[in-house]
Amino acid sequence: MLVLPACEVERRKSDAELDLNPQQAAGRRVYDDTCARCHEPYSSRGKKGPGLKGVFKQQYLPLSGLPANDERMGEIVRNGRSKMEGFGRVLNDQQIQDLLAYMHTL
Ligand code: HEC
Repeated sequence: MLVLPACEVERRKSDAELDLNPQQAAGRRVYDDTCARCHEPYSSRGKKGPGLKGVFKQQYLPLSGLPANDERMGEIVRNGRSKMEGFGRVLNDQQIQDLLAYMHTL
């Protein structure tokens, strides 16, 4: 019998279906280009890094136990952490703000 995990066959939702405002939709594009290859946005299943579903809905980040807030997240995105490289040279402040706005919707 062939069993596919539900998340693999789930269709990608549009920005409208996710009810994203323009800033969040811009952040989604940043996420898809920069983060999605290593972090699942709508699953807690690990890829190269941990899945980030509901990342801001919890008080602490899953691996490091750092507080899940914009300040810490911004630092991780800019400077990286442990095995993850930083993106401070490829993303500008606006893109990081948009990215964080989107990540609050996960
Ligand atoms: C090439 C793969 C890769 C990319 C691209 C990547 N990450 Fe990571 N990320 C990782 C790995 C691996 C870890 C785990 C680091 C560790 O060992 O602590 C991690 C850790 C994290 C953590 C910390 C989790 C915790 O509990 O402390 C956050 C938050 C995070 N990444 C967010 C992002 C965001 C946002 C982006 C896009 C800007 C991104 N990552 C891009 C691989 C990646």
